[in-house]
Amino acid sequence: MLGAGTRILVGITGGIAAYKSVILIRELQKRGVEVRAIATPSTSHFIGLETLRAITRHEVPSEVFQGSEAGSSSWTRHIHWAEWADMFVIAPCTANTLAKLANGFSDNMLTSTALASRCPLLVCPTMDGDMLDNPSTQRNLTKLRESGVSILPPDSGYLASGLVGPGRLPETAVIIQKIEEILSEVPSGASRSHSGASPSTPSTSHRTGYLAGKHVLVTAGPTREPIDAVRFISNPSTGKMGIAMARAAQLAGAEVTLLLGPVDSQEPVGFNVIRFTTAADLFNKAKSLYKQADIIIKTAAVADFRPANPSLHKTPKTEASLTIQLEPTQDVLAWLSQHRLESQVLIGFAMQTSDDLEPARKKLTQKNLDAILVNQLLEGKSGFATDTNVLTLLTRTGKERQFNGYKEEIAQQILSEIFQPL
Ligand code: CTP
Repeated sequence: MLGAGTRILVGITGGIAAYKSVILIRELQKRGVEVRAIATPSTSHFIGLETLRAITRHEVPSEVFQGSEAGSSSWTRHIHWAEWADMFVIAPCTANTLAKLANGFSDNMLTSTALASRCPLLVCPTMDGDMLDNPSTQRNLTKLRESGVSILPPDSGYLASGLVGPGRLPETAVIIQKIEEILSEVPSGASRSHSGASPSTPSTSHRTGYLAGKHVLVTAGPTREPIDAVRFISNPSTGKMGIAMARAAQLAGAEVTLLLGPVDSQEPVGFNVIRFTTAADLFNKAKSLYKQADIIIKTAAVADFRPANPSLHKTPKTEASLTIQLEPTQDVLAWLSQHRLESQVLIGFAMQTSDDLEPARKKLTQKNLDAILVNQLLEGKSGFATDTNVLTLLTRTGKERQFNGYKEEIAQQILSEIFQPL
């Protein structure tokens, strides 16, 4: 069923109906669905990509190599986006893209992602009636159907060419109904496939995942330390990096428990999520869970101090100034490092405003960690609440490597660097 936690990739191609994709995305979002969009290069002749960027609040890539700066590896984005999605809907789909999909082309972001994806694929062809009737197009539609792709036939009516006939993009409600129908057929928890494998066949990456059989405990998000009944001390963490680490561990085959602080975003699906509020709450939950974990990743932005005497009531504004006495919180990571099991791997994070790696090296040694990820706070690019991050990995064995890119992508690169060295 559609709802919070469902992730849909909307592919848009260069046809007159491209503008209708905005309505489709909005309608999906109204149902709580998380949507990302991919446009083919000719889409921008029909619709502004800025519109799509604004409504999805995400980049809208067209090319595989788009934005791959030196040091970043966003050229693997098509793989990560394909893994991210529960379903891929291409609406509208031109005859050209249809032909590429039917023949396994991977010459842009949309076709490459389609080729890499294992989730159900719904294609909504729209084109002039004669193009649709052409034997080549019909052959391509048959090929796609035979490989398990769902096709939503176009509606008949007035076409942009001035002709009347089949070729129009069906109404948004009809597309959504089709999406619901397809998702309801997918067994929950099963890996989905449109490439001929049975829907219950575990995906290749899960079967061969380098963290298969491991239990990973991830902490993410801020803590809230109450001052009184309505006020608290906190920080702007949104938990995105921790959720990305949890997702990356899950994609590598691990069983994941996510200890998640008070964040507004939708509850991530696919792993066991346990919520915490204060540093003390996190400490108690981490203490009761840590023994089950093979790997612990401490991404949470934990308050170092808390009000010593929080009031149970709202403090009235009676004084011109107010002094709040603070006391240190328990350092959860330090405690875990003292009590860690012999085989356990412990990974910490360190938020910094400077690029001096020395303090993090000290934390790595003092807290007896296997690795630490130094998170540089760069306005709008890295740190709290951003989609991208700049992280430097320092390991106990002396490895040092910088990662720069989307949080979901670098999370996968980091785990692979630590657990799958070449
Ligand atoms: N951490 C923790 N418990 C705390 C504070 C921090 O478990 N009470 C963890 C964080 O989750 C992170 C690591 O410690 O993995 C480093 O956090 P950071 O705030 O960067 O450093 P601190 O150790 O608190 O040191 P400082 O604030 O002096 O840099």
